[in-house]
Amino acid sequence: MKITFIGHGYVGLVTAAVFADLGNTVYVIGHNQDKIDNLNKGIIPIFEPGLSELVKKNVDNGRLFFTLDYSPFIAESNAVFIAVGTPTTKTGDANLSTVLEVAEKIGKNLEGYTVVATKSTVPTGTNKKIQKILQENKASGAEFDYASVPEFLREGSAISDTVNPDRIVIGTESKKAQEVLVKLHEPINAPVIITNFETAELIKYAANSFLAVKISYANAIAKLSESLGADALKVLEGIGMDKRIGSMFLSPGPGYGGSCFPKDVKALISISKDVDYQFALLQEVENINHQAKRDIVRKARKVLGDLKNRKIGILGLSFKPKTDDMRDAQSIDIISWLENDGAKIKAFDPEAKETAKAVMPNLDIVDDAYGVAKDADLLIVVTDWNDFKELDFNKIKSLMKSPNIIDSRNIYNPQDLQALGFNYMGVGR
Ligand code: UDX
Repeated sequence: MKITFIGHGYVGLVTAAVFADLGNTVYVIGHNQDKIDNLNKGIIPIFEPGLSELVKKNVDNGRLFFTLDYSPFIAESNAVFIAVGTPTTKTGDANLSTVLEVAEKIGKNLEGYTVVATKSTVPTGTNKKIQKILQENKASGAEFDYASVPEFLREGSAISDTVNPDRIVIGTESKKAQEVLVKLHEPINAPVIITNFETAELIKYAANSFLAVKISYANAIAKLSESLGADALKVLEGIGMDKRIGSMFLSPGPGYGGSCFPKDVKALISISKDVDYQFALLQEVENINHQAKRDIVRKARKVLGDLKNRKIGILGLSFKPKTDDMRDAQSIDIISWLENDGAKIKAFDPEAKETAKAVMPNLDIVDDAYGVAKDADLLIVVTDWNDFKELDFNKIKSLMKSPNIIDSRNIYNPQDLQALGFNYMGVGR
């Protein structure tokens, strides 16, 4: 098939590359000439394991193209996917201006029969709006059906999540669109749920918010365990073995960050308010998430007392490992709170140096973990990069002014570090 994607962020670029790899001809429309030129050379604007190779391979074999132009690519396509960002507005709603703008441009360029589908996460009701915009802008001879096809890929494992998803959700009542979309997804071996727009939209928000509930639940159990003398990791392992609960997304830490969970939980609270439902459970999930970050700073104060002029080293800046994404990264709040207390911060991240500089231009970012440890009163692990699991802790200890460590991701064995003379604090144990 011929497919067009609008947007080359995580969702657009990964799905486009995977569909090209499955043998389709794929056009990706962006809005920045430099980025498009780079993409056509296989140089990608984000860090995602395996993605640059997959893009390059499919650009080289003539199945994947990047362009600024809607014409003639929309007209030639069997299916067009909207995969642009929907960031949070000040009021907690999703900002839909780009999605709606793009819908208008697609509408104007439709020819023959096309399936238009949205992958961007949009609040319930938006898909009806997009459909209306397409209808109002299309030429009289053009025909289209519209679908909501939410995306569930995670950063860091985006390609394998796209090739092996747990399910494919196709939200459209049009039989013709269902056929096209089922056929397109056929090589991907996953159960398909066919439903209406509203249900598809809500599946995405409900899934992400439920995962956020699990993480906040784990953080609440961690907090409780610290007071009760229990080991939260064992408690969570113990409950996760119950198949009805499941062990995934139960790791306590500095709260969830990233481009999806914070935004989608907020949006679902806001969607609920609009229909007079106070989703108090999710409000508490946000509160626990905030407290999980605050707790890291409370622990720093507990170890060092007054933080004024104390040197604190931060290991990890991105919101999770295997990505350079700094959107809603936990490190941003943690560093700003520590700095407000007068602490002097040095940080290191294996991939997020540039992206972190863009959001924290004054932050002292050094080139490795040992540089962070030098003269530090305290080390805080904020992101669970594998690189940090293999550090030489004898060397770290010799470099630090005082061997204090807060392991907010519980990546180390407390006994091992205590045996080396570290004052170790994890989360929930
Ligand atoms: C998430 C969803 O998982 C994905 O399905 C959706 O399409 C987009 O949003 P992503 O944001 O890439 O994916 O990352 P994810 O792996 O889900 O982690 C989100 C945050 O939760 C990270 O900050 C991570 O560190 C944190 N997390 C995750 C925990 O604190 N504990 C856990 O047990 C799991």
